[in-house]
Formats: sequence, C-alpha cells, structure tokens
Amino acid sequence: AANGNKPGKTRNIIEKMEESGKNCVVFYGSQTGTAEDYASRLAKEGKSRFGLETMVADLEDYDYENLDSFPEDKIAMFVLATYGEGEPTDNAVDFYEFISGEDVSFANGGDPPLENLKFVAFGLGNNTYEHYNSMVRNVTAALEKLGATRIGKAGEGDDGAGTMEEDFLAWKDPMWTDLAEKMGLEEREAVYEPVFGITEREDLTKESPEVYLGEPNKMHLEGTSKGPFNAHNPYIAPIAESKELFTVKDRNCLHMEIDVSGSNLSYTTGDHIAVWPTNAGKEVDRFLDVLGLTSKRDSVISVKALDPTAKVPFPTPTTYDAIARYHMEICAPVSRQFIATLAPFAPTEESKAEMAKLGSDKDYFHQKISNKYVNIAQALEDICGSAKWTDVPFSAFIEGLNKVQPRYYSISSSSLVQKQKISITAVVESMEVPGREDALKGVTTNYLLALKQKQHGDPNPDPHRLTYEITGPRNKYDGVHVPVHVRHSNFKLPSDPSKPIIMIGPGTGVAPFRAFVQERAAQAKGGEEVGKTMLFFGCRKSTEDFLYSDEWKQYQEDLGDKFQLITAFSREGPKKVYVQHRLEEHAKEVDELLKQKAYFYVCGDASQMAKAVTSTLGKIISEQRGIPESKAEDIVKGMRSANQYQEDVWS
Ligand code: 2AM
Repeated sequence: AANGNKPGKTRNIIEKMEESGKNCVVFYGSQTGTAEDYASRLAKEGKSRFGLETMVADLEDYDYENLDSFPEDKIAMFVLATYGEGEPTDNAVDFYEFISGEDVSFANGGDPPLENLKFVAFGLGNNTYEHYNSMVRNVTAALEKLGATRIGKAGEGDDGAGTMEEDFLAWKDPMWTDLAEKMGLEEREAVYEPVFGITEREDLTKESPEVYLGEPNKMHLEGTSKGPFNAHNPYIAPIAESKELFTVKDRNCLHMEIDVSGSNLSYTTGDHIAVWPTNAGKEVDRFLDVLGLTSKRDSVISVKALDPTAKVPFPTPTTYDAIARYHMEICAPVSRQFIATLAPFAPTEESKAEMAKLGSDKDYFHQKISNKYVNIAQALEDICGSAKWTDVPFSAFIEGLNKVQPRYYSISSSSLVQKQKISITAVVESMEVPGREDALKGVTTNYLLALKQKQHGDPNPDPHRLTYEITGPRNKYDGVHVPVHVRHSNFKLPSDPSKPIIMIGPGTGVAPFRAFVQERAAQAKGGEEVGKTMLFFGCRKSTEDFLYSDEWKQYQEDLGDKFQLITAFSREGPKKVYVQHRLEEHAKEVDELLKQKAYFYVCGDASQMAKAVTSTLGKIISEQRGIPESKAEDIVKGMRSANQYQEDVWS
C-alpha cells in the first residue's frame, strides 16, 4: 500500500476513474506478472472492440470502502491469481481480507452495499494444488454476497494443465457478448490504438548517461544502487562458484553459489531466490531483424504512455536493443491473441490472411505454432520468410509481449551454514524438437549455464549453444554476476530440530532438501539433538544424474543413523522405479514417524509426482492403520492444513 500514498496519487478508485474519464477498471492480483498481463489484454480489448474507456489497476493501490458508490454505468473486472496453498497474491492480500471479512463495512452503509457494482472475473490457478483457483471463487462469492452482479461466468485458467491461454480465450468471448448486451455496448471494427508513443531521441546517444541500457531503475543507472533489494530492485550478485552436477554430456544441471555478502539480503532455509535473466544474443538479433530494426538497434528512444493510466514497463530513454535484451519476453511461447493483433500489420496480403487464420483457428495455431515451440520472431519468420514486419507499431510489442519476470528457484543451501552464500540447483531446460535446433529453450537456465561457462572459461564445442551479454548493461559487471533477490516462503523445517522429517525430492526437487540436510548435519555436529531425517531421492541413473552423491556421504557421517537416504533410479532396471514406490516400501516406518508428528515435505514436479506422492501417502496411512482410504485422505488433508505436509512444487 505504501506506493499508493505518494502525494498526488489518489487511493480512491471512483475519483480516479472520474478524473481520467474511465468507465471500466481492470483490477489485478498478480504475483509473477501473468495476471497483470491478462488484465492489460482485457483492458486493451475492451477499448479496441467496444470503445470502453478502460484502465488497469493494481489492487494494492486502492481502497475499497467506497466500492458501494461504484457507478451503475461502469464496470469492474477482476483478474486474480491464486498463489501457493490457495492464498491471495501479495498485492491482493488487503483487498481479499477486506472483501471476505466477516463484518466488511462500506462508506455509505447501503443494503446490500454493492448493488450497483457490475463485475466480471477471471482466475489464474493450478489444478495440481488443493485450493484450485480459490481466489477467483472466493472473491466472486464475496462480491455476490454483498449484492454485486456478476456478468458472464467467472473464468478459471489452469496452469497445471498448461491451458491458461486457451482457458482465457474461451472465457472472454462469451463474457464480452454478455457484457456488451448488459451495458448496451456496440462492437466496432477493432481499431488498433497504440498505448505507447515512441519518440526518437536524436539529442541522445547510447553513451549518454541518462539512457537506460538495461538497468532496472534509476539507482542502478546512476551507480548508487542500494537495498532493499526486491522484485523492483535486484542485487547484482557475484557468482562465487559454479559447477556441473551431472556426469552425462547431453544434459546439464548447475550448482551455483551466489554471494550476497555485499547486500543486506538475508534468507532462511527453504526460501526462494529470484534470478533476473537476460535474453540470448541470437534471439535479440533475430527479433530486431524481423522487425527491421537492426540498423536502429542502438538509437535512443523515449517511450511514453499515451493513456495516463498505463505504465511503461521499463525505464526510458532507452534503446530497442536494451528493451529486447532485458525487458521483453521475446523467447516465450507465442499467444494466439497476439498473432491476431498483429495480422493487419503483416507485410504481405498472403501473410495477413495467414495471420488471421492462425489467430482465429485454435487447431491450426497449435499445429503451426505451439507444437513447433518457437518464439514470436521465429513464428513471424516462418510466416513470411525474409520480409520485415516494419508496419507493426512497436507499441504493439510492448503491449503484447510480457515483460521479463524474475524466475524463482528453491534455495539449496542452509542459512545456518552459509548465511551469505545462496545455492541454486537448476537443470538446464531445452525443448527437444526434431529438425528444430532452435526450439524454445529455458531462458534463465541457459543464461545461468552461459555464466558458468564464462566463469570457467569453457570452450564452446556446440555451435547451437546460446551466447549472452553477460557483462551487464554498459559492460559494468566485472567478473561473473547475476541480478537476484530473495522471496520468503513457508516451506520450513520444524523449529525443533529433534522432530523427525520425511522429504520427497526427485530430480532438482532435491534442492531445498539438500539445504535441510545440510542444516541438520551442522546442528548434529554442533551437538544438538537431531530427529530422524529421511530423504527420498529419484533420478534416472546412479551414474548420470545422482545430484550431490558425494555430499550425502559426508552428511551421513555427521548425522549417523539419523539420516537415511533412499534412492529410486528410474532407468537402471527393467521397470521404472520412482520415489513413491520407495515410499510405499517404507510404509511401516513412514507411518510410525507420522505418528510421532514427523513433518512431510514434497518438492519438484507438481502435475504427476506430487499428486502420486499424496495418494501413496493416503494409501500407506489407510493400510497401516486399517482405516478406509477416504479417512486416510482426510488425515493427509488435515496434515496439510496443520502445515505438517508442505509442498514446494512447480509445473
Ligand atoms: P524417468 O524420467 O525415468 O521417467 C527425476 O526427474 C526423476 O523423476 C527421474 O528418475 C524420472 O524418471 C522421475 N519421474 C518421472 N515421472 C515421475 C512421476 N510421475 N513420479 C515420480 N517420479 C517421476
């Protein structure tokens, strides 16, 4: 709420809409920026298709006590991500507590208070979590209870099934129809109106000190960077150490030690570290080339929001090169709606038609674009060869591509053992698409790999390997550095080290458990009483991707029989063996530990593994205690609510 209190900024949404002539506000509750991007897209579409005067609003920038005077002829939209275990995103906490509070009260005291409020809602969730899309569900219910009128269905997007984009598209069309009818809106021929204006700054060059070349904010630009370091202000951390953890050549898993001693960053075991990536040089070149901007890549431009409620998503003046390299997700999968937006600007009549078809035909789009795992520039190249897309207003890219977001990794070191050095364990991701060497690759993990290679002065044996600008904007980072900040999590060891713990972490899911075991080994060495520490780890082969295989031996010495490592090597025998199979083999012991109130942790793949572990645990409890499975499942649910069952999972 702090930034809403700046002088000159109102926290009164009704006043804000009034003074800026808006009749539609799109509120977002966003953690990593996805919900914010969807909110912007809705706002844009409302404007271009229906002439709505839309604005986007961060939920934490406004107060809600006066929502009861929300004018009848206006509309509120809510785009709400559900975070972790059914929680609101950080920026939506206050709103959520207010609106779902027992005795919510409004300024005017009408009854029902929100009878004038019309709203639409879309949620972003993940069906692999227990509380699927609970934010949009609960907020919708709360608003309706207060007398507000929902228009259209409350949409639910599922990141777990990987259908978020299609869920969004499928939700919004009938919603617009409904809304147009209820508000008497006329659909018009969609006219593209740029949200951002670009001015060429001939008075500046890229050497001018006020030009941003990738610095995230003013302090970084002026070299006076200081904390607090957070999602708006990273710390440029030296990489103290980096090494390869796999012994096979064709796959990489990195271990990195990030030195935060020069910052005031602190973490506790189980937290996450955010890494701010840089796009690969080759993809930056390709993007600028396709847009016909290569010769202008270092020209200085100022970007201004033409609509006073829009925000330029990066600092300016800047260059096209810097925007593409540091600020826009140019290496992400392509959205169908964005292709449709670009269609009228395609270079030839043929490509216009092709783009329109891709934009409107879901199956065709999958076949031609999604299934090929290409980024936007590759898609545009594929559509019309060497023709340049010079008719597209650059604003369309700023609006249509997501802004680069930091990526979060589970910290694999213990804060007790190494307070100032944060470990990352990350497998380098690449899509394997036959005949397509340049298919989408993990943006951040490949960047980290390049940093490691730089640090070691590795030769480049692979012509397809991506290269990066790794000395930072203005070649400022000497040595190997990476921009980071820390995000605190609830994934925590019991405060009493004598409590038993059971950890399930196949693959890089072992990251936080290396930290847990490292911590307990240190505690044991320090003479503390440490409880049973059981770790289930799975990988393909003991000789290939067995992470930290040597370290476990050391921890075993420190912890003695308190530590038990149980491995599942899935590709060594005739049949797949997974962590959940090993868990089942240890049913008796596991159940006994649970009865002693052992904490149970799962980290890694959300969609398959974490689900299988949950159901295996239910089965174990049912068999060991001779109770029906449904009852055992309730016990597992109870463990979750009591924080005795904790997950740190991703899809
Ligand atoms: P696989 O690739 O041989 O199938 C780390 O990725 C380990 O997790 C690998 O051994 C992998 O096995 C395994 N794994 C794959 N799918 C899994 C699942 N559904 N449950 C548990 N482990 C799985």
